[in-house]
Amino acid sequence: MVKKIQIAIDGPAGAGKSTIAKIVAEALQFTYIDTGAMYRAVTYKALNENIQLHDAKSIETMLQNTTITLKPSEQGQIVFVDGQNVSEAIRSNEVTANVSEVAAHANIREILVSMQQKLAADGGVVMDGRDIATHVLKDAELKIFMSATVEERARRRFLDNERRGIPSTIATLQQEIALRDKLDSEREASPLIQADDALFLDTTHLTIEEAAQEIIELAQQKMS
Ligand code: CDP
Ligand code: CDP
Repeated sequence: MVKKIQIAIDGPAGAGKSTIAKIVAEALQFTYIDTGAMYRAVTYKALNENIQLHDAKSIETMLQNTTITLKPSEQGQIVFVDGQNVSEAIRSNEVTANVSEVAAHANIREILVSMQQKLAADGGVVMDGRDIATHVLKDAELKIFMSATVEERARRRFLDNERRGIPSTIATLQQEIALRDKLDSEREASPLIQADDALFLDTTHLTIEEAAQEIIELAQQKMS
């Protein structure tokens, strides 16, 4: 029987994690789990309920009364908050601008990490985020730290926004991404950092297919 491994993919915004993770999961018939969507879902609800984002305790109380459900689909992953499909809403500029503040709270991370570990317990998963290799799935058989230059990542996000009809400029996106990189890398609780046993993959000059193929081959080696 083929071994159902865990694949952890970490890296900054726009590196290509979710796009590539989805392709890898499909090729291997694994489940794709986007952990960033969970932090976005919490931020979305906290903003809707006018909770002060620095108030970790109030967000925790809110989260204890919230149901976050992830459902795999053809397009990737659908996210429900209390039964409502928020997959598009959690990608808004407002959520993006505020998510790193919420994700810095250790108590919120603890709750979401425990959900993520349960989702990955049986293996056969590709999980992407910021702390997957260092914290959530420390024993993952394959760990990738994916990155690209900030200019390229901003360019990619600009094209994403154009497709979604969200107004933006490359210069503003570059600033937003650089600030989020800084907040995510410098926070105390599980910062974004390359795990010692993770492989570095620079996607700046790689196509999506090339990057995905590289990971699929590495996974097949681990499973054989
Ligand atoms: O898609 P994008 O790269 O813009 O971000 P994301 O993966 O949706 O993650 C949004 C934010 O959630 C990140 O900027 C982090 O602040 C936080 N996050 C985290 O702290 N830990 C994770 N495992 C995943 C996301
Ligand atoms: O999940 P993460 O924030 O790391 O990045 P993403 O949302 O998967 O990728 C951001 C955008 O860059 C998507 O539109 C991808 O199709 C695109 N991309 C690309 O053009 N070339 C790559 N090698 C990787 C991603």
